[in-house]
Amino acid sequence: MNKTCWLLAAGVSCFVQLPVLAHEGVKDPAVLARMDSMKEIGKATKFLGAMAKGEARFDPLKARQSLALISDEARRTPELFAGANDDPKSKGDPAIWEDFADFRRKSKELERIAARSANELSVVDELSAALRDIGAACRACHEAYRKP
Ligand code: HEC
Repeated sequence: MNKTCWLLAAGVSCFVQLPVLAHEGVKDPAVLARMDSMKEIGKATKFLGAMAKGEARFDPLKARQSLALISDEARRTPELFAGANDDPKSKGDPAIWEDFADFRRKSKELERIAARSANELSVVDELSAALRDIGAACRACHEAYRKP
C-alpha cells in the first residue's frame, strides 16, 4: 500500500503525507519546535491508524496514551506558532498569522476530539470512528495553513 495512504483502510482519506521528514537545515529553533511537535502528532496518528487497521495489536491503554499525546500537542499548537517565525524549509503558510483566531480554533478542535477519545475509548471500532474525526481536524488545518 502507498505509504502515505496508511489510513485508507481505516476509512480515513489520505490527509497527510508522511515521508521521512528530516528537519535538517532548519535554523530557527521556534520553527524546529513546531515542526517537531507536528511530527510527534503524525507519529501518534500513524500508530493509531496501524492499530485501527489491525497491523498493530489493539491496546486500549496505548491508544489512549497516543490520543492524549495528540491532545496535549494540539493544546501547545497555538503557542508554538505564535511567533510568526519563518524558515525556508517551513511549510507554515503566512495565512496562519492573518487569521490566528481561526488557527487557534482549528487547534482547539483537534485537542477536544483527541481528549474526548483519550477519556472514553475502549474498543477498536471507537478508534476507527475517532480517527475519522481526527483526520478531518488535521485536514481542515493543513488545507488552510500548510503549504503543499
Ligand atoms: C491548527 C492547525 C493544524 C492541525 C490541527 C494539524 N496540523 Fe499538522 N501542520 C500544521 C502546519 C502549519 C504545518 C507546517 C509546519 C511547518 O513546516 O512550519 C504542519 C505540519 C505537519 C507535519 C509535518 C511535520 C514535519 O516534520 O515538518 C505532519 C506530519 C503533520 N502536520 C501531521 C498532522 C496530523 C497527523 C494532524 C492531526 C492529527 C495535524 N498535523 C493537525 C498545522 C496543523
